[in-house]
Amino acid sequence: MTKDTFKNLKDENKTYKNLYDGYWKESKSGKYTEIFSPIDNSLIGKIQSMNKDEVDKAIMNSKEAQVLWQEIPVNRRSDILNRAADILYEKAEELAEILTMEIAKDRKSSISEIQRSADYIRFTADAAKNLEGETIPGDSFPGTKRNKISVVTRVPLGVVLAISPFNYPVNLSASKIAPALMAGNSVVLKPPTQGAISALYLAEVFNMAGLPKGVLNTITGRGSEIGDYSVTHKEVDFINFTGSTEVGQHISRITTMKPLLLELGGKDAAIVLEDADLDITVDNIVSGAYSYSGQRCTAVKRVLVMQSVADMLVEKLKDKISKLKSGDPREEAVIITPLINKASADFVMGLMEDADKKGAKLLVGGKRDGNLVYPTLYDNVTLDMRLAWEEPFGPILPIIRIKSIDEAINIANESDYGLQSSVFTKDIDKAFYIANKLEVGTVQINNKPERGPDHFPFLGVKSSGMGIQGIRYSIEAMSRPKAVVFNLNNVE
Ligand code: NAP
Ligand code: G3H
Repeated sequence: MTKDTFKNLKDENKTYKNLYDGYWKESKSGKYTEIFSPIDNSLIGKIQSMNKDEVDKAIMNSKEAQVLWQEIPVNRRSDILNRAADILYEKAEELAEILTMEIAKDRKSSISEIQRSADYIRFTADAAKNLEGETIPGDSFPGTKRNKISVVTRVPLGVVLAISPFNYPVNLSASKIAPALMAGNSVVLKPPTQGAISALYLAEVFNMAGLPKGVLNTITGRGSEIGDYSVTHKEVDFINFTGSTEVGQHISRITTMKPLLLELGGKDAAIVLEDADLDITVDNIVSGAYSYSGQRCTAVKRVLVMQSVADMLVEKLKDKISKLKSGDPREEAVIITPLINKASADFVMGLMEDADKKGAKLLVGGKRDGNLVYPTLYDNVTLDMRLAWEEPFGPILPIIRIKSIDEAINIANESDYGLQSSVFTKDIDKAFYIANKLEVGTVQINNKPERGPDHFPFLGVKSSGMGIQGIRYSIEAMSRPKAVVFNLNNVE
């Protein structure tokens, strides 16, 4: 593959087009959104602001394409996905550069996002081949004879609208597209505005891998302009959304009888007991809270620590957090990078102001330079502070000191969110006791919250989401059982 492998998706002025019916097309709207890098404000390119007619055309084209795609044998769908995974691997460095510039993700994490997406696609291609239906004999139900047998297979839903967030524009697009396609659906991808360019490259990877025309179309434009129209479109059969709780709840309010998978915000707690291995705990809390500057749904967003070990934990955290390198994500070993935009940095600073006013103790950070917010740690955070409850999506961590396990459980569960929680302890009985009581999708024992490995179920409860991701779970979410009942005449 040559250097200009990706020449089709943009013109010489760095204006990116949209994938429509197998070709990269310009919008007739004549409107564009300029995408600037959060690193240095340089112009990366322009994306098209599609109008509603064009969104409609894309969805209708995907609907037509799905009819043929569902007839293609699963092993051939799988071959196409495996080719896409190969291309992603081969192009990982080039795509990571684009991702780093567009969302200010450090270089190592950008490469890892691309490679993880390739692994996800490959695993999905294999997993779908191993999915089996079932036959159910009728006579196990009272009053039914042996002459009835139900043959249950899984069939696609139709057109899946995939909406991804800025913080994983490639991976959280791939992890919707791949299982949707393997289940026999077509996909309309609405990427985040900031992150759209990286996601459009991913779409071209699927296109280059030989996906038939129209099976994957992309629509770009601000969610505030084309979002409501897309999610309420009558030919969209399933919405697979990852993003903020605010937008997720809005989608849920305005749609009627549309199946939804919503992966939303979080306020994941790390609960630290007296007997925790503090070195393991600190490593996990720091990488959990500060990687990609805290812009992860599964970031550690509060620490609930037993008073008796709090001073020791705080000292170790302070030491490690002070050593985190901040700056340009293209530089070696930089972890803390500029936040995605000014509004995000302003929001984090607002949380600090509130915490300062209410008497929290600032231990590290507390400063910004443009959109770069330095890694920040607060001790003695109390429950009247916004920092105890709100999702910062930035590099700031509150420590709340607790006196008992039940107090930790109560504070953890008082949150509106319910994505994940971590428990750090060597006592397996206490770990199970706490895990059973926490109202979250996943509890991690002695590890930071995290989505992977990607074949595990990943879900949020309460305001953190609805439905289940994870390779097999995602394929199942985007397909439904279909039963054919055989009624045999010559069997009693
Ligand atoms: P966001 O503002 O909610 O945007 C997410 C996506 O929704 C973007 O593509 C956005 O497009 C689109 N959108 C906006 N308004 C819409 C509407 N009315 N209808 C349809 N789509 C609409 O979230 P974000 O700032 O990108 O991501 C950060 C949030 O996502 C955090 O809260 C984080 O916790 C959450 N998140 C959750 C998970 C999880 O798995 N639980 C994973 C990652 C992120 P535009 O960009 O054009 O506005
Ligand atoms: O931002 C939300 C992602 O789903 C988190 O994924 O735990 O692999 O960073 P991660």
